[in-house]
Amino acid sequence: MSDSTNQSASRLGVLISGRGSNLKAIIDAIADGRLDAAIALVISNKASAPGLAHARAAGIETLILSHRDFESREEYDRAMVQHLIQRGVEVVCLAGFMRLLSPVFVDAFPGRILNIHPSLLPKYPGLDPQQQALDDGATVSGATVHIVNAELDAGPIVLQREVPVFPGDSAAELAARILEVEHLLYPEALTTILRDSGSLRPSRASASVSRRRADS
Ligand code: GRF
Repeated sequence: MSDSTNQSASRLGVLISGRGSNLKAIIDAIADGRLDAAIALVISNKASAPGLAHARAAGIETLILSHRDFESREEYDRAMVQHLIQRGVEVVCLAGFMRLLSPVFVDAFPGRILNIHPSLLPKYPGLDPQQQALDDGATVSGATVHIVNAELDAGPIVLQREVPVFPGDSAAELAARILEVEHLLYPEALTTILRDSGSLRPSRASASVSRRRADS
């Protein structure tokens, strides 16, 4: 049974642009009971993203929103926000989503957008972090899940895990070793974050506060 029918679980929205192996890891963690959440919507900015197949196979709603159909980054982000809010999404997971988010998006889900990055941030932010690690002569790199803020790959860190860099590694070999860790780390970080439901579910929290006020 798909856990997307779990009414009490936290509702996630996942944004992808490509392969979607982290999306698949989150889907699997929910199905295994390692993560108490439900994916309400997967948005891709590319119709050809292979990761969409993982969502469809799990019976999760998908939406293709091409940035080319919007006049500005802000208009595009506003449309994504509307779709996510319509589905009751509480936490947004960036999983290989290859677009910068404007304040329109970041401010709509304050402290409730997560990203995964294949380095030990603050080391090697931005593009090609595995190659950056090799160029730097690093003997250790890793993966980081962090909260997204206005700055690229710079928000508060939720969880990190080290991965060794071996002599002679290619960027692809290092990326594959880090990716295995990413697939465990993202569901673990989500569990950690969702446990702190007070700060992550402001709509429900404020609803219960207003109820209490109305009752008193
Ligand atoms: C991962 O390495 C992730 O850390 C980075 O983009 C890649 C996405 O891979 N942000 P996938 O699409 O989840 O397979």
